[in-house]
Amino acid sequence: MTASNPTTLERYDAAVDALLRMSDDVSDAWDATVADDPGFALGQIGRAYLRCWSTEAADAADARRILDDLGEPKGLTDREGRHLAAARAYADGDLHGAGERLSALSVTYPRDALALAIGHQLDFFCGDAATLRDRIGRALLAWDPTHSHYGFLLGMHAFGLEECGLYPQAEATGMRALEHNARDVWALHAVVHTHEMRGGIQTGLRLLDERRGDWDSGNVLAVHNSWHEALLLLDAGEIGRSLEIYDTSVHHGGSANVALEMLDAAALLWRLHLDGADTGGRWAALAEAWAEKPDLPWYVFNDMHAVMSFVGAGRLDDARAVVDRLAAYVAGGADPSISNLGMTAEVGLPVCAAIVAFGEGRYGDVVDLLHPIRKIVHRFGGSHAQRDAVARTLFEAAIRAGDTDLALALASERLAVKEDSPYNRRQLIRIRSRADDRDSQAA
Ligand SMILES: [Fe+2]
Repeated sequence: MTASNPTTLERYDAAVDALLRMSDDVSDAWDATVADDPGFALGQIGRAYLRCWSTEAADAADARRILDDLGEPKGLTDREGRHLAAARAYADGDLHGAGERLSALSVTYPRDALALAIGHQLDFFCGDAATLRDRIGRALLAWDPTHSHYGFLLGMHAFGLEECGLYPQAEATGMRALEHNARDVWALHAVVHTHEMRGGIQTGLRLLDERRGDWDSGNVLAVHNSWHEALLLLDAGEIGRSLEIYDTSVHHGGSANVALEMLDAAALLWRLHLDGADTGGRWAALAEAWAEKPDLPWYVFNDMHAVMSFVGAGRLDDARAVVDRLAAYVAGGADPSISNLGMTAEVGLPVCAAIVAFGEGRYGDVVDLLHPIRKIVHRFGGSHAQRDAVARTLFEAAIRAGDTDLALALASERLAVKEDSPYNRRQLIRIRSRADDRDSQAA
């Protein structure tokens, strides 16, 4: 790489380390790489990547400014030049193109941890489970297992394995990663996902509780892992404890109100909303936080959670306004290389319209909107666990619409993969009792 002094290289190593650990000072660590060496290309590129990682339009604009200021530096190495092209694509909204560029880079330079870590997050935001796993898998052989960063590769690989449904292998790989670094919060997160997906509520809760000191502070994933804990409790029917975690760790007066954390908050409250549970005044505060975000189209997965919050707070006009804005964006002829355009057209817009329909009590319309796209919902990003909010919306709407055949089919499908889920069992009992009522009325 190209740097003007050895200190820059030391700071770069520290910044990569902070990125892999998801330390809460990761932004400062990357800023430090360019403090005495503003022309250090990989430092500026890393700063731009970090801003893109937030999934917020204002930060992407910052990333573009950083890259514009960097310009076209002379004498970059091949690897640096390819990073620059990937970062520019990312900042311009071409998430798929950026991911492809980093994939190609990793074939030539498989030990470039920056390319793997940023590419891995891009796969997550694009909902590409196979690449989430294989981007890391294809680099593993090139790494020395005694390298201090090797464990973080295992952690990333574990999450890819989990999103591909390979739960035992994902769990084992994630636990190996935790042997390398007990504070590898992404690896821990991958293992928690394997329990969430298999209905291993108590195992997941125990794991989080036993290792609490390793994950609940000092990193940027703490809110998300708290959300997972609250989610496991919710599935077990422990609404009070789940809301306690919401109040102390997911969203409260001191929250930074970053979109990636606000969406966790919305996803938890939306599940409660679907169940008809009382969430107090929590929606109002969350909806207000979303209302303060600029309404620029950038990542529709976030917009969906804003719409949930507006509907939850009874701000239906604001929810409808987001849907109208997304419809105008799709119709407006934006650059088709912008990933968010396709994500919005195919998934985000119908999902947001369905959430508004749910808020208006038009449950049949929710089914009509969501059922046709249920197998492509992954295209707008997130994990299986996060997208379950959409699946539950369809499920609940089918029940409320009186579409008992579909509701029973969905219950059967869910129980067939997660038979230990108390939520699934509760829903089945509800549907059967409604079906019995219908039959006795018919008789
Ligand atoms: Fe997660």
